[in-house]
Amino acid sequence: MRKKLISVMLSVAMTASLLAGCGSEPAQESKPQETTEAAPEQAEGQEEAAEPEAAQPEEAPADNGELPILGAGIYSSTDNFNSYIAKSITGASDGVFQVNVDDGQMDQATQLNQIDTALAKGAVAICVSVVDITAAPAIIQKCQDAGDVPIIFFNKEITDKDVVASYDNLYQVTSTGGDYGAAIQGQMIVDYWNAHPEMDKNGDGKLQMINVMGDPGHTASQPRADYVESTITDAGIGIEVLERDTGMWDTAKAKEKMDAWVSKYGDEIEAVVCANDAMALGVLQSVEAAGFNLEGTDSEQYIPIIGIDALPEMLEKIESGEVIGSVLQDASTQGKVIVAIANNVSQGKDALDGLDFELDTDGSKAVRVPYAAITADNVDVAAANYTE
Ligand code: GAL
Ligand code: CA
Repeated sequence: MRKKLISVMLSVAMTASLLAGCGSEPAQESKPQETTEAAPEQAEGQEEAAEPEAAQPEEAPADNGELPILGAGIYSSTDNFNSYIAKSITGASDGVFQVNVDDGQMDQATQLNQIDTALAKGAVAICVSVVDITAAPAIIQKCQDAGDVPIIFFNKEITDKDVVASYDNLYQVTSTGGDYGAAIQGQMIVDYWNAHPEMDKNGDGKLQMINVMGDPGHTASQPRADYVESTITDAGIGIEVLERDTGMWDTAKAKEKMDAWVSKYGDEIEAVVCANDAMALGVLQSVEAAGFNLEGTDSEQYIPIIGIDALPEMLEKIESGEVIGSVLQDASTQGKVIVAIANNVSQGKDALDGLDFELDTDGSKAVRVPYAAITADNVDVAAANYTE
């Protein structure tokens, strides 16, 4: 346990120091362009207009309208995790880019139109989480036709290496590893099992679990479902999977499925493993409505639930003990890295200039931001991810 905690703390410290390299630099680098023509709107103002020369280049540029345009989009604003990346992109773009993160509304045609519009407005870079990864070639074509505009794919990794190789000006920003955080999640279950013998409610030495998967069309769904199970069994704990089904990354859908399972299995359920927090929160609503998880982890009426992402809304539930934990997917760092890469490449610099990250050498051209285990012991680590 202690060893684990230390390694988590180390990885957190590492992430923090990696970040130190990218948080502030883009804003400063782009300053020179804005300060020259910043006057028009301020000139009408009163006090500030008196000393434009003296204005600190460090502070907010006078007119965002002078900044280059970053074309940005997420596949759906209903996706909590993607919305946090969007927020980070917006924050990191302050003083660097004009940006308005578009909502693809889970519709590829809509997202392609949004990209057309951004390019038509003169976007110097495009960054998107695609609705459908098979649309990548069409997006690349658009960027190419617009004059080799750089593109950064994030969250939904383009896994076809030929597509990735087809365009020099392409980068990806995601999280570490082909297991998509599930090995960490599996290990957290193992640790919990070892620390809480009462988790084995029926005393058969096996874990009766429900595995709630993400959208089956998503690259992370199958690996998350598989790796969480194999990590548990590799640790010598037998499992019996009561249900393995999709909640489509979605709170309401996961709740609906869990409503049926909790009435079918009730006390037989020894863990619910969810491929993301949005679904874990839906599962929690369902089990609480059925009278579970209302009286702390020691109660007999407790079903351990775990998620991935470590969203702020999940952290409260971890702190209160209503769920056992989550795996931090660092939306904040991802957003900052996306903006830094866009800023670098649009100025002809090396993509990773000023960043302490590397591109994966597996042909993905991806910057991979590390995951981290989050339990009640270190909620603050994940919370720091959302303060700005
Ligand atoms: C995953 C994330 C999910 C969901 C999904 C959508 O990485 O854990 O919560 O956002 O991406 O692409
Ligand atoms: Ca059991």
